[in-house]
Amino acid sequence: MSKDKVQIFDTTLRDGEQVPGCKLETDQKLVIAERLDLLGVDIIEAGFPISSPGDFNSVVEISKLVKNATVCGLTRAVQKDIEVAAEALKHAKIPRIHTGIGTSESHIKHKFKTTQDVVLERAVAAVSYAKTFVEDVEFYAEDAGRTDNEFLARICEAVIKAGATVLNIPDTTGYCLPEEYGAKMKYLKENVTGIHKATLSCHCHNDLGLATANSIAGVIHGARQIECTINGIGERAGNTSLEEVVMILKQHPYLNLDTSINSKLLYSTSQMVSQKMGMPVQPNKAIVGSNAFAHSSGIHQDGVIKNRETYEIMDPEDVGVNESSIILTARSGRAALAYRAKKVGYELTKVQLDMVYEEFLKFADRKKEILDADIHDIVIEAKINIESVA
Ligand code: KIV
Ligand code: ZN
Repeated sequence: MSKDKVQIFDTTLRDGEQVPGCKLETDQKLVIAERLDLLGVDIIEAGFPISSPGDFNSVVEISKLVKNATVCGLTRAVQKDIEVAAEALKHAKIPRIHTGIGTSESHIKHKFKTTQDVVLERAVAAVSYAKTFVEDVEFYAEDAGRTDNEFLARICEAVIKAGATVLNIPDTTGYCLPEEYGAKMKYLKENVTGIHKATLSCHCHNDLGLATANSIAGVIHGARQIECTINGIGERAGNTSLEEVVMILKQHPYLNLDTSINSKLLYSTSQMVSQKMGMPVQPNKAIVGSNAFAHSSGIHQDGVIKNRETYEIMDPEDVGVNESSIILTARSGRAALAYRAKKVGYELTKVQLDMVYEEFLKFADRKKEILDADIHDIVIEAKINIESVA
């Protein structure tokens, strides 16, 4: 059975760039946009054109550059925003306007000081106006995670009638539980007339560490687009991490969902974004962290050396990491030492390994990690006949 495609909407250059201190220049954004296009993302959210002349210019230049992906610009449900976004996107091969408004009780009461009916009218007017410029219009219901499902369904139905092609259901505050977020998608699938005319989209924030889980729950219940960023960067605790959702769908084939991402480019893309934004990737970050395929305890190392799959659920090469690493520490066993010694040129017999291991433990107690250069010193210190092992 052929798999259903989940569209990957990358918002590294818009929501991702809202991280304090991570503002990028247009030329840096262009390098990232080109890489995202190569990676195979379906949509690149290039910026919020009305927010500043710099952002406007970035969206213009990205629109000219990108060859395959749809290029999208964010707006509020405000005519001027929409006009400026349309102007910025005019060179895009496939342009999309992403417009919307807050729909939760808190946004309606406190931010807009108005009523649900007025918000609904503004949403429809924004989508209708955006439709006069581009065919592809995505509507976001900001704070949909905390919006009452009945009103959310009503507004979704109205904007579909006005021509929205994609319905973004953001968990803006990262509050939803996966079950709740999945149920919201299911509710919309079952209660919005005309829902077959639009794609439901997951846009999850990571305030409780649930952005990835919520996005996956969303696609299991009928959404077919995930909005995400490289390395999960974004305001506060960040957005859904692109590399995580892509690899979850790849590693769980029974979900029958797939993306167009070339996963072998994930690691290098992560490194590039981290370097351009000056945002280090935490070592234990899933998929792209430096420890994601590193094994340091003796029991795990022995298992991985015998058969990688004992402790790894994906092949590092699938995400562009050359191989798993066996880290030598005081917790490592003989199997790991023999493996690493062989890599630097020493084929040790069992007796020689015992002697070298004894010396290794003394070194390892003094140092946090034993590097290749240390292995040579340890072999020398163990006083075995080097000629016989090299
Ligand atoms: O988190 C959010 O609600 C957003 C919207 C502006 C799409 O980023
Ligand atoms: Zn967001």
